[in-house]
Amino acid sequence: MGEFAQVGESEVEPLARLTEVSKRFPGVNAVTEVSLDIFGGEVHVFAGENGAGKSTLMKILAQVDRPTSGRVEVAGAPVTHRGPAEARRLGVAMVHQEFALAPDLTVAENLFIGQEPGGFGWIRRGRERALARELLRRVGLGVRETRAVRSLSTAEQQRVEIAKALAVDARLLILDEPTASLTERESRELFTVLGELTAQGMAVCYISHRLDEIFAIGDRVTVLRDGSVVTTVPVGGMDESALVRSMVGREVDDLYPRTFREPGPVRLEARGLERPGALRHAGLTVRAGEIVGLAGLVGAGRTELARSVFGAEPATAGSIRLDGRPVRIRRPRDAIAAGIGYLTESRKSDGLALQLGVDVNITLGRLPMRGGLIDLRGQRRVAEHYRESLGIRVPRVDRAVSLLSGGNQQKVVLARILRTGAEVLLFDEPGRGMDVAAKSEMFQQLDQLAAEGRAIVLISSYLPELMNMCDRILVLRAGRVVGELEREEYSEQRIVALATGAGGEHEQRD
Ligand SMILES: Nc1ncnc2c1ncn2[C@@H]1O[C@H](COP(=O)(O)OP(=O)(O)OP(=O)(O)O)[C@@H](O)[C@H]1O
Ligand SMILES: [Mg+2]
Repeated sequence: MGEFAQVGESEVEPLARLTEVSKRFPGVNAVTEVSLDIFGGEVHVFAGENGAGKSTLMKILAQVDRPTSGRVEVAGAPVTHRGPAEARRLGVAMVHQEFALAPDLTVAENLFIGQEPGGFGWIRRGRERALARELLRRVGLGVRETRAVRSLSTAEQQRVEIAKALAVDARLLILDEPTASLTERESRELFTVLGELTAQGMAVCYISHRLDEIFAIGDRVTVLRDGSVVTTVPVGGMDESALVRSMVGREVDDLYPRTFREPGPVRLEARGLERPGALRHAGLTVRAGEIVGLAGLVGAGRTELARSVFGAEPATAGSIRLDGRPVRIRRPRDAIAAGIGYLTESRKSDGLALQLGVDVNITLGRLPMRGGLIDLRGQRRVAEHYRESLGIRVPRVDRAVSLLSGGNQQKVVLARILRTGAEVLLFDEPGRGMDVAAKSEMFQQLDQLAAEGRAIVLISSYLPELMNMCDRILVLRAGRVVGELEREEYSEQRIVALATGAGGEHEQRD
């Protein structure tokens, strides 16, 4: 960050060099003849559509995966692909989206797992603890080294992973979509840490779909498309639309395709929902054709509100009406039967049957039947439809979901929800992990669903998304709805003020 700009590329040895690296999976060329250099001191961003090959390329660099052909060198020496331990010895560490920490061990124990620092008993432990404190300081983490990892937040665990990389003197740190489950504030703190590390000469490879952060922290960006490098350029030499164009291969002029219409009658009405410690007299109404946004900080009660409407964690008091009729929702099954669909925020618990095909996963909730049997051709037709409309990248729809890239798995979850035909739809951070074009397609689908008279709730931490897509925005704080904004009242400042309690609050309208 900054550092790199002062260093002439030609005078400096690259920390890592990839030469014509390719990786083939059955039916898929995941990475094709990629050549590039990574320098100490730079944040090198990797961008591109879902399935473009970003994670695969980084796994090859971290020696988690072996290339089909091509060469990898680290600090001038050829890499033998003997596995992650070998990579660590060379100073390459990768933080995956799902962390690999041991939850029951302490922070300090996790930092030195697999290392033999020498020394005996308490001398060694004393030295380890001092070293752990120093590492935690370097990653800006203010927790005690004796804490169990289990008790840490996602952001804190991620910081421990980075500290672990420092513990083995990594000089190249790879982060795969590290902010996908962080709050804005946690993301900014992470950027500060990365800035300090690159200033000390470390190289950071950073995969991201978020344009704002690519420009905020990247020094150079490599864009991948269909496994090949489209371009590697200094971030400053490219604007947002050029970046999107090179990722997608065409112009994406409308990131938020929404047509606002006069809404119809109220379809979902939740009133006075209570759940100790989570919801305090929370409620919302959504009309036919409306998309209502829920804004708020992480933990403000947005997910809790959705989960209680869906019966995943039912409210202890309050009432829910659908199309004017009172309904009792005690469990998700009741909600589904009543025509409510919920896309949860965590992919892991979304219940994808990873070993089964894309087609089976999409139709799982509503199997096409024919004469009392599952209509397999119908199933394939349905799956083909969603593959086309959502751009799910898979060579055949009967491929196991486990073989899809992260963003493409997310699209399968989305397709399944769309397929259920639910009339009231709750979307919790649906764009997480999706590339810009896929997001735009997804929003197109949401707009279409609204046009058909469905009622939609959209939870997102990214305010431009809410402000562009929603008819109204409710702001939650500490389990309560503290404000409701109409379109003409939207402003980031106002929403943030309500969410943080910095400004005065105003009453929720009925
Ligand atoms: N183990 C595997 N077996 C078969 N195909 C695979 C395997 N791993 C990845 N692929 C395929 O390789 C391609 C590249 O996947 P990769 O995970 O690298 O994409 P990505 O750029 O990280 O995408 P995303 O943004 O969705 O995370 C995809 O088509 C994916 O389905
Ligand atoms: Mg990926």
